[in-house]
Amino acid sequence: MTENVPAPLPAGIRPWTVGDIPDVRRIGWETWKATYGRFIPEEDLRAYHDEHYSTEALTRNFHRASTRGCMALLRGKPVGYMIMSFDEKAGRCHVASIYVLPECQGYGLGTMLMEEAFRAAREAKYDRVWLGVMSENSPTIAWYHSLGFSFVEEAPFTMGKTTVRHFIGFRLLTQGTPPPGSPPDLNDDMTTGS
Ligand SMILES: CC(C)(COP(=O)(O)OP(=O)(O)OC[C@H]1O[C@@H](n2cnc3c(N)ncnc32)[C@H](O)[C@@H]1OP(=O)(O)O)[C@@H](O)C(=O)NCCC(=O)NCCS
Repeated sequence: MTENVPAPLPAGIRPWTVGDIPDVRRIGWETWKATYGRFIPEEDLRAYHDEHYSTEALTRNFHRASTRGCMALLRGKPVGYMIMSFDEKAGRCHVASIYVLPECQGYGLGTMLMEEAFRAAREAKYDRVWLGVMSENSPTIAWYHSLGFSFVEEAPFTMGKTTVRHFIGFRLLTQGTPPPGSPPDLNDDMTTGS
């Protein structure tokens, strides 16, 4: 008798196209509300979204040679995305945004998107990937730690009329993913907000 093991959900990633912009806007907005709505008023989120995630702004970003984007799909539907950029002058590449719809989190899509960022950065000969995260977003800070990120800088981040603390960190591409249960990095005092 065959055991009744649930089949894995069909999940995957692919490069974004200009036709994905409405989905990027929708996924971004829904995930922002769920993630940041606890500590940033919706009107401030809306002001920032309208300015930086308008169709026009995303279309400009899409056409920049220094930008890459990737969609995450669950059962063929876009449910997440990652946008990264390469700053050749500064010699830095960074993940500018990575979002998976709340109901689709925990299926491995975020990891797939991040691994694609690592792959693209290695291909472009960068030795690390940078990103920023709000200090209040502790589940995601823990997730970044589990992927091997260390946070080394802090800067204010303003959305509308609200300013929050923003941790900035990197993940070396020469290292492997740390095993589960690894101790936090030396900068943990920064990332626990203490
Ligand atoms: C952060 C985010 C992109 C991660 O995507 P995701 O699809 O939920 O993550 P995954 O399913 O790939 O996570 C996979 C692994 O991380 C682990 N993980 C998830 N959350 C974790 C946490 N808080 N701490 C430690 N590990 C965590 C999971 O257990 C899983 O491990 P496993 O593969 O060994 O089972 C997504 O949760 C998200 O959009 N969050 C809200 C928005 C946000 O904060 N975006 C980043 C802004 S800077």
